[in-house]
Amino acid sequence: MKTHYPTVASLKSQAAFESELKKHGVEIPFDPEVISGKESPLAQPFILASGKKIGNRFAIHPMEGWDGTPEGDPTEYTVRRWKHFGRSGAKLIWGGEATAVRPDGRANPNQLMIQEQNMASMESLRESLVKEHRDHHGSTADLFVGLQLTHSGRFCRPNIKTKLEPKILYHHPLLEEIYNISPETPVMTDAEIEDLIGYYVRAAKRAQAIGFDFVDIKHCHGYLGHEFLSSFSRPGKFGGSFENRTRFLRTIVEGIKTECPGLSLGVRFSVIDFPPFRPDEDNIGRMLEYRDENGRYPFAFGGDPEHPENYKLDEPIAFLKLLEEIGVELVNFSVASPYYNHHFTRPAYFPPSDGYDAPEDPLVGVARHISVGNQLHSSISKLACVGSGYSYLQDYIPNVAQAVIRREMIDFVGLGRSALSYPEFPADILNGRVINRKHICRSFSDCTTAPRKGLISGCYPLDEYYKSLPEAEEVKRIKQEMKK
Ligand SMILES: Cc1cc2nc3c(=O)[nH]c(=O)nc-3n(C[C@H](O)[C@H](O)[C@H](O)COP(=O)(O)O)c2cc1C
Repeated sequence: MKTHYPTVASLKSQAAFESELKKHGVEIPFDPEVISGKESPLAQPFILASGKKIGNRFAIHPMEGWDGTPEGDPTEYTVRRWKHFGRSGAKLIWGGEATAVRPDGRANPNQLMIQEQNMASMESLRESLVKEHRDHHGSTADLFVGLQLTHSGRFCRPNIKTKLEPKILYHHPLLEEIYNISPETPVMTDAEIEDLIGYYVRAAKRAQAIGFDFVDIKHCHGYLGHEFLSSFSRPGKFGGSFENRTRFLRTIVEGIKTECPGLSLGVRFSVIDFPPFRPDEDNIGRMLEYRDENGRYPFAFGGDPEHPENYKLDEPIAFLKLLEEIGVELVNFSVASPYYNHHFTRPAYFPPSDGYDAPEDPLVGVARHISVGNQLHSSISKLACVGSGYSYLQDYIPNVAQAVIRREMIDFVGLGRSALSYPEFPADILNGRVINRKHICRSFSDCTTAPRKGLISGCYPLDEYYKSLPEAEEVKRIKQEMKK
């Protein structure tokens, strides 16, 4: 049995869209008339706490392609993708893509790196994005480009695409079982963590030297930064209390503030989390059950340990206040993890090859992103807040994007998958051009299925360039197999 929620394309009017939401008891704001030009709420600039100006309210999320060289330099695929980000018309480029601070922290052997020897190629990658923006949109004075710094922690595959070489902060019985990680795997020591902090600071210094406006100290999606936030069970100075679980980030920020004056700082974090989901006999995702000796699920930052199907925002709000205090200027709200509960992170109609059919209408997932983002945004005053999960709105992205900005529910609308299939979408919306429906992302998930099977990522269904690659045939074959 497949899930059978209506596709967004079949909801032909605002009324149909809203009645679908009503069925599930959720709300998504919607502006029936989308304004273009200077008057558009989406065209309004945003001024950061430091006084720096970002020209409009669209952000492009980091989107990696699993397509760097083994040495961590960009390839022509990477350059093409970053050029598309520049061409999008969005004025905030959040990080480009996850870039490892050192080799053992790579999520795959083709992840970009920002070591001394990668500086020239990363500089030219950034410049190609900026040039593309200038060629299509004129001024780049109000374009703000960051680099996302990462260590993949539990999900490191630095040498062989299929071989996990995890660096963990604590033992997580469910993830160890799913990913076949021995419960004997050693946890990172405090001394190893302190050493790693230095790599982040040096990476930030390099990013600043080659022209990036900010760095994102990634804390989302189950990678190492995110795992610190949920290290409730870890003893010592990096685990247990909120103060200890945020020590990694605070120390990196301190180091960057000292070493890189003038560099802005961002943090993308998974604001809420839930236990892992696995497919049931009908392939529908079901939450796994786990309780510790106190009857609690103890591994979710922003989760409710007594009721793990729910979330709790007290710690995420405390985290935001901390970020404000220590001088972080931008935050990007994501949720959960694409590895173990992907329907929360990126609502989709079609699952990736290592996933499950959505246990809820993906619109419910979008509504959750928007609601949580709004609650967090209204809890702080200075941070620039970017929201995620909008691509599944498809034809209704313009209506919802305008509505959330106009109502001040969030500061920036971030786009991920739709930036792969339809890079010019933000520019078309801002300029009132006819929307090119053929390029709207329909959430086929091929951009995830391909790399899960060792191939480069890209929009195989809708981007002619990827359609014509030999890898496209391979993706089709994998999907046929999945149907059996
Ligand atoms: C192919 C692919 C690559 C991604 N790469 C990154 C990444 O490098 N860093 C990151 O923080 N998120 C990454 N994400 C998550 C997206 O940035 C985004 O949060 C997610 O797709 C939901 O937003 P959307 O609905 O606009 O796609 C990736 C997602 C996909 C599908």
